[in-house]
Amino acid sequence: MATVVSAAATKFRLVFFAPVPAVEACKAAIFAAGAGRYPGGNYTECCWTVVGKGQFRPGDTANPHIGSVGKLEHTEEARVEVICFGEDIARKAVVALKTAHPYEEPSYGVSKLEDF
Ligand SMILES: *[C@@H]1O[C@H](CO)[C@@H](O)[C@H](O)[C@H]1NC(C)=O
Repeated sequence: MATVVSAAATKFRLVFFAPVPAVEACKAAIFAAGAGRYPGGNYTECCWTVVGKGQFRPGDTANPHIGSVGKLEHTEEARVEVICFGEDIARKAVVALKTAHPYEEPSYGVSKLEDF
């Protein structure tokens, strides 16, 4: 069922980080949840991406997708920014991201945007 996108809805920006080979799957998942779609549907699958360096050190009880326990890991990761019209879509996009993302602890943030 398609989620209705309202122009009057509060806008949110979802930012997430993912290893480069997993980015397209993460984007597909959040777009399917309604992220990156403007009201009326004239523009869909909108996002902005830049590639950079991420780092993390898995702890003793971690089961890392990349790297190994106790060892500092540096990975090529993408930062993806996407707009969500309405809290419902923002929440659905986060659920979809967590399902599609390969990491145990996906890094993401959601910000509420002003509507000037
Ligand atoms: C979609 O684009 C058409 C053609 O430019 C325009 O008439 C229409 O108002 C647009 N819809 C929205 C919701 O912006």
